[in-house]
Amino acid sequence: MARDWDERADELAAQAISDGAPTSWFDRLYAEGCSGVVGMPWDRSQPAPQLREWAESQAVDGSGRRAVVVGCGLGADAEYLASLGFDTAAFDVAPTAVRVAQDRHPGSAVDYRVADLLDLPGEWLGAFDLVVEIYTVQALPDPPRSEAVRGVRSLVARGGTLFVVEFRTDGESDATTGPPFALSRGRLLSFADDGLEQVELSAVEGQHWRAVFRRPSG
Ligand SMILES: C[S@@+](CC[C@H](N)C(=O)[O-])C[C@H]1O[C@@H](n2cnc3c(N)ncnc32)[C@H](O)[C@@H]1O
Repeated sequence: MARDWDERADELAAQAISDGAPTSWFDRLYAEGCSGVVGMPWDRSQPAPQLREWAESQAVDGSGRRAVVVGCGLGADAEYLASLGFDTAAFDVAPTAVRVAQDRHPGSAVDYRVADLLDLPGEWLGAFDLVVEIYTVQALPDPPRSEAVRGVRSLVARGGTLFVVEFRTDGESDATTGPPFALSRGRLLSFADDGLEQVELSAVEGQHWRAVFRRPSG
């Protein structure tokens, strides 16, 4: 029987973080998911409920607009944005996740790529009208967590929107154990920098933050 992937994630992450390579374990975990050693990590076929609720409440229409999903995993959020009409890119540092996302969505309009949030392609900087970041930043220790926040901000175009969901701590600082490293209010507020403005920051059910930021168009 496949092992619990969550437990295996803890082992792999602890080793990778102590080796000073905090993003190296994701691909290994997905590969173990593919071979059946563990269950498939972060396996969902529906968009994150917080994303769907927000998009429906705002009647988001992606026609003629570009979106990107950070740390896209198996692609459910990217497919949802494409269904709303966005010209959608989605990237993950784990090649296995990107391959599974492509295999699960044959004929998809989404441009799936292997890319590192900490070393983004130049053509993506300031290129997206909607940036969706769900659970990537909190999966990383600090460093490089602050750099990851900077990377997320850098994707947002003038007039664009950033939508963020992370696990929440009500403490003063981010949790020191993880992943997930539950994020503090201060960390969420740090997305509002480099010209981004906070629109919403809500503590929502399931011990989550849901936050929205905008880059003014002027
Ligand atoms: C906790 S999982 C969440 C996956 C997906 N966003 C979801 O909500 O199901 C974090 C994801 O971020 C990816 N990731 C971690 N560090 C990354 C980086 N530096 N650049 C791009 N993706 C990264 C991992 O491979 C993993 O797929």
